[in-house]
Amino acid sequence: MAPRCLMCSPTSPGTMGPMATLDLTPDELLTTTRTVRKRLDLDTPVPMAVIRECLEIALQAPSGSNMQGWQWIVVTDPQQRRRIGDIYREQTQAYLDSRISVTKQFVDDPDRSKVQKRIGTSVEYLGENMGKVPVLLIPCIRGGREMNLAGQAAVWGSLFPAVWSYMLAARARGLGTAWTTLHLMRDAEVAEILGIPDDFLQGALIPTAYYTGETFKPAPRAPLDDVLHIDRW
Ligand SMILES: Cc1cc2nc3c(=O)[nH]c(=O)nc-3n(C[C@H](O)[C@H](O)[C@H](O)COP(=O)(O)O)c2cc1C
Repeated sequence: MAPRCLMCSPTSPGTMGPMATLDLTPDELLTTTRTVRKRLDLDTPVPMAVIRECLEIALQAPSGSNMQGWQWIVVTDPQQRRRIGDIYREQTQAYLDSRISVTKQFVDDPDRSKVQKRIGTSVEYLGENMGKVPVLLIPCIRGGREMNLAGQAAVWGSLFPAVWSYMLAARARGLGTAWTTLHLMRDAEVAEILGIPDDFLQGALIPTAYYTGETFKPAPRAPLDDVLHIDRW
């Protein structure tokens, strides 16, 4: 069983009071919500009450025209997770073998290349283990495949802030998550497994579990001034 913050123990089953949260400032929460892969605890079940609480928080996110058009599929059934995990593993392998793999970016920059290689081993690990993560969350929203830019921005902008809120709420409750998209190359197969209606799009696949180890740190990032434009590009 993974060590984790005692404050994060859920309330006893049947009592649905709010879960305790970690003692993090808003800035600490925002800068330490990392992509968790190797440190996902595959053995400790996550109570549905905690997931529900994170999703209640997610529902406070903005959405275009206040449509609140999101739908959330929480997958805990071992068989369903295994089927999704098999697809994810195959697509991860195809991605890592491809030209766009994380390990093939910034190869001329020794510092960044080292980080990219480390992420590669982590991506591979999650590829192997996705189906064993206790909770897989698939956020969906109604949308067409042929959208203009305004349509795309409205649809995904009405889903992703809520997904990130879920991940922040999870982090605050001692859970680790990872934003993943590789299964979307075969979204129709996953839609079939989960019974997702034809007019709904899947936005991501978010494995969710307690984590091993102590805590998380801010990550290195390219400097703000490389990407900041004031008044014009
Ligand atoms: C749109 C998007 C798609 C991603 N897809 C995957 C994925 O399929 N598999 C994976 O392991 N990580 C995926 N990631 C996680 C990134 O690799 C990760 O955010 C990045 O390496 C930075 O690490 P950090 O989030 O811990 O700062 C994705 C992230 C985003 C935003």
